[in-house]
Order: sequence, then structure tokens, then C-alpha cells
Amino acid sequence: MGKQVAIIGAGVSGLLACKYALEKGFSPVVFEADDTLGGVWAHTTESTRLQDPKDSYQFTDFPWPSSVKEVYPSGTQIVEYFESYAKHFGIFPCIRFNSKVIGIDYIGESCEEIESWELWGGKGKPFGSQGKWHIKVQNTKSCTSEVYEAEFVVLCIGQFSGLPNIPEFPPGKGPEVFKGKVIHSMDYAKMDNRIAREFIKGKRVTIIGSHKSAVDIAVECADVSGVEYPCTIIQRKAHWFIPSDPSFGLILGFLYLSRFSEFMAHKPGEPLLLSILATLLSPLGWALSKLTEGYLRWRYPLKKHGMLPKCSFRRDFGQCQLVVLPDKFYDRVEEGSIVIKNSPSTYFSEKGLITEADNQMVDTDIVIFATGFKGHQKLRNIFESPVFQEWILGSPTSATPLYRQILHSRIPQLAVIGYVESFATVLSSELRSQWLMQFLDGKIELPCVSEMEKEAQMWGNYIKQASGEYFRRSCISSANIWYNDHLCKDMGCNPRRKKGFLTDLFVPYGPTDYAGLLSEQ
Ligand SMILES: Cc1cc2nc3c(=O)[nH]c(=O)nc-3n(C[C@H](O)[C@H](O)[C@H](O)COP(=O)(O)OP(=O)(O)OC[C@H]3O[C@@H](n4cnc5c(N)ncnc54)[C@H](O)[C@@H]3O)c2cc1C
Ligand SMILES: NC(=O)c1ccc[n+]([C@@H]2O[C@H](COP(=O)([O-])OP(=O)(O)OC[C@H]3O[C@@H](n4cnc5c(N)ncnc54)[C@H](OP(=O)(O)O)[C@@H]3O)[C@@H](O)[C@H]2O)c1
Repeated sequence: MGKQVAIIGAGVSGLLACKYALEKGFSPVVFEADDTLGGVWAHTTESTRLQDPKDSYQFTDFPWPSSVKEVYPSGTQIVEYFESYAKHFGIFPCIRFNSKVIGIDYIGESCEEIESWELWGGKGKPFGSQGKWHIKVQNTKSCTSEVYEAEFVVLCIGQFSGLPNIPEFPPGKGPEVFKGKVIHSMDYAKMDNRIAREFIKGKRVTIIGSHKSAVDIAVECADVSGVEYPCTIIQRKAHWFIPSDPSFGLILGFLYLSRFSEFMAHKPGEPLLLSILATLLSPLGWALSKLTEGYLRWRYPLKKHGMLPKCSFRRDFGQCQLVVLPDKFYDRVEEGSIVIKNSPSTYFSEKGLITEADNQMVDTDIVIFATGFKGHQKLRNIFESPVFQEWILGSPTSATPLYRQILHSRIPQLAVIGYVESFATVLSSELRSQWLMQFLDGKIELPCVSEMEKEAQMWGNYIKQASGEYFRRSCISSANIWYNDHLCKDMGCNPRRKKGFLTDLFVPYGPTDYAGLLSEQ
């Protein structure tokens, strides 16, 4: 086709975008900053495993090899799976490793002109505008830079990597006054396993944050150092933890990941009938949430250790805040090798951390920030134009305004894949990649810019309402099937993927339901 498509990032989203671009006859180039593919999975802590059963974290047309028996594969197994996918579909030759994109700039029509367009890119076509993207790429080995040109850019740079979220402290109360070591969970995860164990061994470690990275690292510390050197978790807010038993996952799937479970909540753009149904069924949604909470309270000593969440289970699910608890976590808390402290904030002193809640000192050798990432700023920073930087994030209080969670209504010849959280990350990136390449192939018609904006705004409002303060993560887990339905319809495919009315209604949806999607058109 002769059009140059540049994909930035070779995590799972970038691999998928590349696979479907190749299928459509493009010659994509994938720029990857790292020397390996796999994104977040290329550098994980020793204990990190998939949180979902592997059947729900797989490609629709490339199942896990039978040699992987584990329900929750390790980071190494996941990277091997991605590598065999990349080999099978001829993706490797497209990837330029050690190639960090330090900026992208659209050279073409002015921002004023772009703002006056009624159709996306001027003509509503993927390659309708006259400009090109200039991609500044730095070779991370030689530190030399080059500029590449492309007609279309696909950003697959991930939400949970690269740019750590480090809390801010008042002057004189930050890490600068502390005599010990301070690192972010991302840098801990990058350490070789043996070096990481040496790093924490026999040290008093304090972890700020209490989400997945925090609990995983705490268990590693407890395993290495025991009760003699307890590891302290400083928790700002408790979230619901779920066990990793496959049987619990199965029940949860039926309760929260089926089409019927989505009927219990309001969804963006739903017709009146579905809205009435959601209102009528919402007491059932509440009851199921209470039932799940009751079970988890019975199973774990949440109250005893100050880990009982204030929000409902359903709310945490809708905010993508559920965490799969590492095995033996509460055994470690009971024996005292992990200590939980609740405090809305902390500050540093020479010898450790002082928790605001009780003004007590936690003597510490190492502080680990397990405080997450600033994915939205990473997305913003890749644009050189301040106007595009502003457009891509939208208002400071709204979710990233993307049409179908893929295209920005104003930014021409560019798409984002993987900037939305849900319960099925790989599937979501695969469906979006399919949608995008159908669009680039001229098979999908876009509405006018104002309609695209309205749609993005409607989903943004939904995300804001469902996710509250976590809106930047663009979580759509409570409306995931509904969202996938829209992509399927755009692509001219049947959104009802299961055989039989009751099966389609009550059985959880997963990647295999979408196998062979495009061959049905
Ligand atoms: C430790 C961890 C565990 C997780 N576990 C789960 C799980 O169990 N289940 C689940 O559904 N989700 C999980 N997630 C979420 C995870 O982010 C997604 O599942 C998925 O892997 C995201 O893939 P991605 O390709 O969109 O992004 P990433 O994996 O983040 O990949 C982005 C890639 O882009 C590259 N890149 C970024 N910026 C540039 C640049 N400027 N130039 C060139 N290259 C660049 C990066 O090097 C990276 O390779 C986990 C996340 C983390 C951090
Ligand atoms: N599969 C795996 O094994 C695995 C392992 C690690 C991570 N992950 C995934 O990777 C993603 C990122 O996880 P993460 O745990 O690194 O980050 P995260 O989910 O963003 O959690 C950040 C934690 O830090 C706290 N925090 C943030 N800012 C803070 C501040 N200023 N002061 C004090 N506390 C602060 C948060 O508290 P609040 O809750 O109060 O906001 C939260 O507890 C998630 O999707 C997670 O599921 C998966």
C-alpha cells in the first residue's frame, strides 16, 4: 500500500498493532526503547504472575502452548508466549529495538486549520490530510538520534511503565533528608532476581502504597528477611483483595464478566430499555457485591489488620482496583513479617518515615515507592506540540477523550492502542488493533468530528462516574462487552459471539469468543 505506519512500543499492544498492520499489507516499523519485547512483562519481580487465568489473557488466534500448565504464568512465560507470537506472525523483523522515541511532531496543516475540520483528518479518511509525522528516535546504545517520517502513528506506549508516580513532599520532608535508600517498584522490578533478594535481605523495608506491586514486593521481603526485619506497608486506602484460586475466578467471571452482569449497571449511550433494565437490576448488582464482600471478609482478617475497604466490591471492580492477593500474604501479616500501617500521608526523616496518622516513626533502611505510574503524562509528553499535548489529555478533570478509545477527534493520522484498563487487556488491544487496521484499510466510516467528540465525551463521563479519582486510568471494566459490541458492529461483525441465547447472556466473555472475527465479514 506504500503508506508508512509507525508503531511505538513492542509490548503486547504494539505486537498486535503490528500483526494486523502486516495482515493488511502495510510495512509497519515498530520502535521499541527496550532491547526486548513484552513491555511490562520484560522486567517483573520474581513473584509477579498473571493476575487473570491465562485463558483470559491470550490472543484470539494463538493459544498458550500446552507446555504452560500453570493457570497464572510467570513474567518469563508470558514474554516467551509473546515471542512465539511475534515469530509466528513475522513481527520480529519489523521491530527496531533500543529505539526510544523522544518526540513526535505533525508537520502539515496548522492547528487553526485542523480545528476548523468537520471531518477527521480533514476528509474523514485515515490518510486524508497532507501532513506527515516526524518521529525523533534515539538509539539507546549509541545515544545518536534520527528523524523518521510516517503517514500514520500508532502509540502503544503503555500505561504502567516508564514514568513512575513519585509522591511530592514539603521541602525538608522528602527523600533528600533520608539516610537510607529510596527506589520505585519499577526499578526494583528491573533488578535481576538474585540482586533484588540481596538488596532487601536483612533490611527494614517500608513500602508506600498498598496495591498489587506493594503486596507482591512485601511478600518477597517477608520471604527473604522474615519476622526479624519486618516489612511495613503504608496504606492510604484499602481495596478489595481477591484470592488466586481458579474456582473463585470462575465464580467471579459469572458474577461480573457476563453480558447479564453488565445489564445491572448503566452504560454509556444505552437505549431507554437497557437503562430501565439497569435501574431495575441494580439491587441485584448491590446484593451480589455484598455477597462477595461477605465472603472476602469471612476469608481474610481484613478488619483486624485495618484492610477493610470503605468502598463496595462492585465499585472497586468498576475502577479496576481489584488486586489478586499473593499466596500466604495474611500468614505473613499474622506472623509479623509484614506490618500494615494506615496513614493518608507520610514524610521522611533521617532514619525513616513518619506517618501522619499517628505521628510515629517507622525506622527504615529502604523505602520503596509502590505508588504506580503517570501513564497520562507519558502519553502527553510524547507530543512535541503543546497544542496536541493539551488535546490528547482533554481537561484536567476528564478521562483521555478518545473516539472508540482509539482516535482523538482532532489529532490526524494517529491512534492510541492500550490506553484503557479492563479485565481483558490483551483482548481489548487485539480488538482495537483489528478495528484500527480495518479503518486504515478504508472499511470503517467515521462520523463527523463533533459526533466523535460527543462519543468520546460520553465515555469520558462514564469513566469519570465509574472511576472517580482513578479516571486517568480509563477503566471500562463494567461496560467491556458493551464497548466490544460497538467495535464489532463498526467492523460489520456480529457482536453476539456465543451460540445460544442463555449462553450469550450468562457465560463470561473471553478471547476465544472473538476468534475468527474478521473472517465473518
Ligand atoms: C507488573 C505488571 C503486571 C501486570 N499484570 C497484569 C495482569 O495480570 N493482567 C492484566 O490484564 N494486566 C496486567 N498488567 C497491565 C499491563 O500493563 C497490560 O496487561 C499489558 O501488558 C499492557 O501492554 P501494552 O503493550 O499496552 O503496554 P506496555 O507493556 O507498557 O508496553 C509499552 C512498550 O512501549 C515501549 N515504549 C514506551 N515509550 C516508548 C518510547 N517513547 N519509545 C519507544 N518505546 C516506548 C516500552 O518500552 C514498552 O515495551 C500488568 C502491569 C504491570 C506493570
Ligand atoms: N500481575 C501482577 O502480578 C502485577 C504486579 C504488579 C502490578 N500489576 C498491575 O500493574 C498496575 C500498576 O500497579 P501498581 O501497584 O504498581 O500501582 P497502582 O495500582 O497505581 O497502585 C498505586 C498504590 O500507591 C498508592 N499511592 C499512589 N500515590 C500515592 C501517594 N502520593 N501517597 C501514598 N500512596 C500513594 C495508591 O493508593 P490509593 O489506592 O489510595 O490510590 C495505591 O495503593 C495495576 O494494573 C496492577 O494490577 C500487576
